Amino acid sequence: MTQSFATRRMDQIARALTPFINFLSDSAYVRLVDKPGMADFVFGNPQEMPLPAFVQSLQTWTVPQHKDWFAYNQSMASAQAAVAAALSVRRGQPFAPEDISMTNGAFAGLAVCLMALIDPGDEVIYISPPWFFYEAMIVAYGGTPVRVQIDRATLDLDLDAIAQAITPRTRAIIVNSPHNPTGKVYSPATLTALGDILSQAGAQHGRPIYLLSDEAYHRILFDGRSYRSPTQFYSHSLIIYTYGKTLLTPGQRIGYIALPPDLPGRAEIGQAIFAAQTMVGYAFPNNVLQYALPELEEITLDLAHLQAKRDRMVAGLRAAGYALHVPEGTFYLLVKSPWEDDIAFCDLLGEHDILTLPGSVCEMPGYFRISLTAGDGMIDRALPGFAEAYAESREDIAQRS
Ligand SMILES: Cc1ncc(COP(=O)(O)O)c(C=O)c1O
Repeated sequence: MTQSFATRRMDQIARALTPFINFLSDSAYVRLVDKPGMADFVFGNPQEMPLPAFVQSLQTWTVPQHKDWFAYNQSMASAQAAVAAALSVRRGQPFAPEDISMTNGAFAGLAVCLMALIDPGDEVIYISPPWFFYEAMIVAYGGTPVRVQIDRATLDLDLDAIAQAITPRTRAIIVNSPHNPTGKVYSPATLTALGDILSQAGAQHGRPIYLLSDEAYHRILFDGRSYRSPTQFYSHSLIIYTYGKTLLTPGQRIGYIALPPDLPGRAEIGQAIFAAQTMVGYAFPNNVLQYALPELEEITLDLAHLQAKRDRMVAGLRAAGYALHVPEGTFYLLVKSPWEDDIAFCDLLGEHDILTLPGSVCEMPGYFRISLTAGDGMIDRALPGFAEAYAESREDIAQRS
């Protein structure tokens, strides 16, 4: 069902959101999520109790120390300093506290960057499969979304397709590494080539193309990998981050936009970001989260445990017959659906008390996505069900041929 709203822009947004809205209005997920004993692999939501250090920090900083404790604030200096210090160590580049804008998550960070950098009619390239909201957000801020598919065989960026999609109107590209939903981490070679393409196109068309680096998962890497940001290979780029993934607290909205030290026009872009942040609806995190930020910056979910869950799921699903790429980062696992109709297959998994996200919801039909935030108990219960559903789907295919 495609909704119809009052304005053309809202209609376009509604069209872009239709797969997601349909999933939330009619799917095995909405029918079954409240049934006791379900193994829920759908969203990157916590399925276990929050990290005690996170709870402790919020408790500490909730207690007011003076009358202005809960007054209006923008980006707090203590939070900016903590982010700049952490990024400087991780990236080996000197980030300045004034180049950090605290936002309520990557969601707001992306919205603010689009508002700050996009003029009506500017084209913004996004990579498909995307995070659910890129296309609709580009429309919401007056841009024209331009979809470029990944290379489906390697899950890598399709650099030729990106080069071909660039026009004189291209103003920005959103790149997400580690990538939701594939779990791919783009290599230095890929990012070098991407930087070259963007530099050349910017020079040719007489204005830079901004790279919006959505780094929501940059601290969730497997097998001892270290992170190389797209921003380290191209200077006209901005970092967008959320703590919701690293802390597994997506409902507590805090993140940032960081301007790397070699970004040309940093001061002007910073001013535009500040204005956009206010106009987006005061997109600053609430005070308690900002007070807590220097402590929150030090905490992460248990990566070894997450990797152990990934390994169990990969081994279990492969043993059952499923085809998949092993994720290099994020907490998602993208699995080939045995049936072409991924929604039907997710319905079948639902009959086995397993909830998964059909790939059609994120422009990856023929696949389904598993969130590894599911608990060990859920994985124990689900693995036999995954195997049974796979066997049933094979029988069905055999009967039909
Ligand atoms: C790739 C990507 N970008 C941005 C976001 C938004 O993160 P948040 O809701 O924490 O702001 C998400 C959340 O799922 C995501 O997966």
